[in-house]
Amino acid sequence: MNIAVLGAQWGDEGKGKIVDLLTPHFSIVARYQGGHNAGHTVYVGGAKFVLRLMPSGILHPGTTCVIGNGVVVDPAALFGEIDQLQALGVEVDGRLVVSNRAHLILPYHRELDVLSEARRGQRRIGTTSRGIGPAYEDKIGRRGIRVGDLGDPSSAAALEDAVRENVETRNRLIGDSHLDWRQVLDELREHWRRMGPWVQDVSLYLARARAAGQSVLYEGAQGTLLDIDHGTYPYVTSSNGTIGGVCTGLGVPARAIDGVLGVMKAYITRVGDGPLPTELTDATGERLRQLGNEFGAVTGRPRRCGWFDAVVARHAARINGLDAIALTKLDVLDGFTEIPVCVGYRLGDTVITEFPGELGALSACVPVFDILPGWARPTAGVRRFEDLPGEAHRYLAHVEQVVGVPVGIVSTGADRDDTIVRPASPVAAWIGAR
Ligand code: GDP
Ligand code: IMO
Ligand code: MG
Repeated sequence: MNIAVLGAQWGDEGKGKIVDLLTPHFSIVARYQGGHNAGHTVYVGGAKFVLRLMPSGILHPGTTCVIGNGVVVDPAALFGEIDQLQALGVEVDGRLVVSNRAHLILPYHRELDVLSEARRGQRRIGTTSRGIGPAYEDKIGRRGIRVGDLGDPSSAAALEDAVRENVETRNRLIGDSHLDWRQVLDELREHWRRMGPWVQDVSLYLARARAAGQSVLYEGAQGTLLDIDHGTYPYVTSSNGTIGGVCTGLGVPARAIDGVLGVMKAYITRVGDGPLPTELTDATGERLRQLGNEFGAVTGRPRRCGWFDAVVARHAARINGLDAIALTKLDVLDGFTEIPVCVGYRLGDTVITEFPGELGALSACVPVFDILPGWARPTAGVRRFEDLPGEAHRYLAHVEQVVGVPVGIVSTGADRDDTIVRPASPVAAWIGAR
């Protein structure tokens, strides 16, 4: 079985925790898009790991981790992350494969990201300032530099031309400082010395692995509503975190995806600018932020919080073909007497139930809520479905009904073990659990 685990809201749904939990059932974990804008948190026995470029399977020694062609790779960030992991006792050597077709993030991409945000002023996107957008712009503009270009002696002249042209463009845009293209090229050659041994054709690697009976977990970054095509454009990231990204970002056929798990919080958050229909800007929002510790894993920025939005969830279910939901942070709702669930948006005189594509319409939407009773007994740390309070069962059943997708995993804490995999769910079938 090859399964995709991806974000079904605005990112930070808890993908890292869920990927780490499922990894023992797979041979390979493969990232297919995004870059070190991602921050995937995994807690194991109280120890915290935040994975950025490295797939969240890295904490399980037997697993191979793959970075696909759809990912944008900042070599310095990758090396820094590997060094940190190794200092914590996680061995990476011999377990990492990087696509020769992945595009590079270079120092000038970070500068251009910051410059572009400053230019937008009030209309800024609130990016992570990691150079993600500018690196993907160069890729689509057909002037990007790929990992494999660094090690190919026959394209040395082309590499030199590309670096020179890109740095000259950067120097024109950022007039007050001059960057020497030769220095950039030297750094790239230096990076290759360390990266070279990991670099392969990932599509071929995965095809051979599948043919040999190995299974792959495809790990998404960001979330459906941050997707460049299906998210709240332009307040999105620059890649496809939705299911199509698996095929393009790894070079695997659609037939090589046997199931799709959408990760969602039991409420909703967003970091950065752009619409969030169920946002709570009052004391309740602050309470969710404190209880859920909703501060960015990468930038430390406070996350905006709101109630669970089934309109968003249905949008994600349709686009990704979700077979099951992993519902995280149920424990954060402990102690609320009432739990609203958004089931539609009031727009003028009508109530709509499908997520609008136009930003104007979306900003005029007012959420319509079903109000469910909270639970008196805490769910934090509960590990068996039958041990959840009756009201929590009712809440989960309501989510399933309004989204139209079964909840296969319920997460009740940050630790790997604070998790319920529901028997008889698609997830249990994928991992052979009873
Ligand atoms: P990702 O980017 O989707 O991997 O999510 P992040 O790691 O950015 O954010 C999710 C946060 O919630 C992390 O701090 C996790 O440790 C934490 N977390 C995940 N699942 C649960 C849960 O069920 N309960 C609680 N309280 N925290 C959780
Ligand atoms: P994970 O994988 C949440 C947001 C940024 C900004 C927008 C564009 O941890 O869920 P970018 O730097 O990508 O150009 O920023 O996307 N963003 C994320 N929000 N989780 C993420 O990743 C994100 N990656 C980018 O805050 O609004
Ligand atoms: Mg995150």
